[in-house]
Amino acid sequence: MHGTILTLLKRYVQSQYDHSTWVKLMELSGLENVEFDHKTVYPDAHVYALVGHAAEMTGIPAGELHEKFGEYLVPDLMYMYQKLVKPEWKTLDMLEHTELTMHKQVRAEHAENAPPVLDVTRIGPNELYIDYVSPRRMGGLAVGIVRGLATYFDEADRIDVLPTTAEDGQRVRIHVRRR
Ligand code: HEM
Repeated sequence: MHGTILTLLKRYVQSQYDHSTWVKLMELSGLENVEFDHKTVYPDAHVYALVGHAAEMTGIPAGELHEKFGEYLVPDLMYMYQKLVKPEWKTLDMLEHTELTMHKQVRAEHAENAPPVLDVTRIGPNELYIDYVSPRRMGGLAVGIVRGLATYFDEADRIDVLPTTAEDGQRVRIHVRRR
């Protein structure tokens, strides 16, 4: 997993909980000697271990933690790749174009980067389906990112995000509708 995601996970835990919670999670995950940076690609197992232990510590299910973290990621991801965003885009346009803008750029930056495939079907001006495909099974993170994008584009009160399959599969369908 991209180092940016792990450094943001660290900041998320430090801001939502505190620094000692992060240190505890790193110890429980056997990562006490690891320092995450933006340039390195880390094993996905680090993310699973950290989120798994966070779920045990807080009693919040791992899927829900993935969603919350996904929401938190959006402003930073948008800031990093803002040059690729057209000023007229809103939430549904961003979702429709992520695969060929942001995720395409992420893949080009490093051979080891492997963002999920997002196969988006726009049904109409206010509705689309996202078919998320990834062996990482992080559909919860995808749902959180969609919610975070709705907040980012100031549409949170109008956008419904409805996963229509289990969120922890390799293929997850997410229905997104603007009211
Ligand atoms: C808006 C701009 C976006 C940017 C800049 C972005 C960037 C990234 C980056 C850098 C990664 C790490 C890839 C790796 O470690 O190999 C990633 C992974 C991921 N992205 Fe995006 N992303 C964006 C939008 C989205 C959207 C709209 C969704 C879902 C609807 C999404 C779902 C995910 C998920 C679930 C992962 C975790 C890896 C996996 O499940 O395989 N992303 N993204």
